[in-house]
Amino acid sequence: MRIAQTRIRNFRNLENALCEWHPGLNVLSGPNGAGKTNVLEALHIITGWGAFSGSRCSDTVRWNSEGGASLAAQAEGERSALIEAHIVARASLRVDGKACRWGDLRSCVQSLAFLPADMALIEGSPAVRRRFLDVLCALVFPLYAFKLSEYRRITQHRRYLLSQGHSPRITQETMAALAVWIWECRTEVTSALEKCLEKWNDLLPRPVALELKRGGAGNADDLLEDFHRSCAILAERERASGTPLVGPHRDDLLLSCESRTAAEVLSRGQRRRAALSLIMAAASAVQERYRAAPVLLLDEVTSELDASGRDILMNCLGRSGWQVFAATAESPLPQFDGAAWKLDAGKIERISS
Ligand SMILES: Nc1ncnc2c1ncn2[C@@H]1O[C@H](COP(=O)(O)OP(=O)(O)OP(=O)(O)O)[C@@H](O)[C@H]1O
Ligand SMILES: [Mg+2]
Repeated sequence: MRIAQTRIRNFRNLENALCEWHPGLNVLSGPNGAGKTNVLEALHIITGWGAFSGSRCSDTVRWNSEGGASLAAQAEGERSALIEAHIVARASLRVDGKACRWGDLRSCVQSLAFLPADMALIEGSPAVRRRFLDVLCALVFPLYAFKLSEYRRITQHRRYLLSQGHSPRITQETMAALAVWIWECRTEVTSALEKCLEKWNDLLPRPVALELKRGGAGNADDLLEDFHRSCAILAERERASGTPLVGPHRDDLLLSCESRTAAEVLSRGQRRRAALSLIMAAASAVQERYRAAPVLLLDEVTSELDASGRDILMNCLGRSGWQVFAATAESPLPQFDGAAWKLDAGKIERISS
């Protein structure tokens, strides 16, 4: 599915914008503060992922406007759908006029975002990489978001019991079953990612190997047995720290180059290229699963790349066959096939093809 048209009203600094989007690469350019990230955030909401992290949906309503923000998108592709979001204190969502949930929007148009903070995929904490795996798993496995929230709830309960000095035994069976299910999903997407990464070799500065390191667990093949055994081994430490130490909430996606961590080996610009390659690989994995093209939302896409890195990236985006929305403050724009859009003070205008 791709987004053919959007109408954005009273959303952050965008007062009223109607856009007919290119089915391939859309490059959004303009000065700082023009509204490029705001357009990507509107698309992030319309594709079911909500406001960008750190914001609530209600923050996106244009200041001093009345009646809330409204977003409408016409999606085309395997089928067509009208997606609408009306945001006041909360967002109310509709597909083809029928009220729906965030998950319904995610399965309507599968989008993946790359934001400046995702640079931390390579060098940041394990939580950044877990989030990346979770986004991919949520797109690939329909029950994933639900099971993950159940897992978080039971882990929270275990943390509470431990902090009160009670036995956490009561949480063990439920937690184990959910942990195993999540580990199986994450293992499957990790190998899909590693396989798909090969397709983006020209963007990847050096070969990167991927491995899911299960939180607190050993390496036994039987995940359920491994979970219980690890809990028994770490029981004393769990009690002392008051924190659950075994399970997917402690996982990490290990990225290595020639047996060192990728963060050690790669320079800053190379890390950015590697992080972008991971997003491209994730999009390829989604496409293989759904046999449908994903939509990419990429912010500050060219920063820290040298001239050849920029050309390679534009070439990869162009040949992907996916619909891409890429924002850059850079001027002049690099060469690309697609549509160029200019933003200025919340106004958006198509300036090419
Ligand atoms: N709720 C809101 N109502 C009105 N304007 C808002 C709201 N929230 C943010 N803004 C404005 O939106 C502008 C920022 O837009 P945005 O982050 O999209 O810029 P940008 O083009 O991505 O800039 P940069 O190149 O610096 O990343 C800011 O000027 C900010 O004041
Ligand atoms: Mg921005």
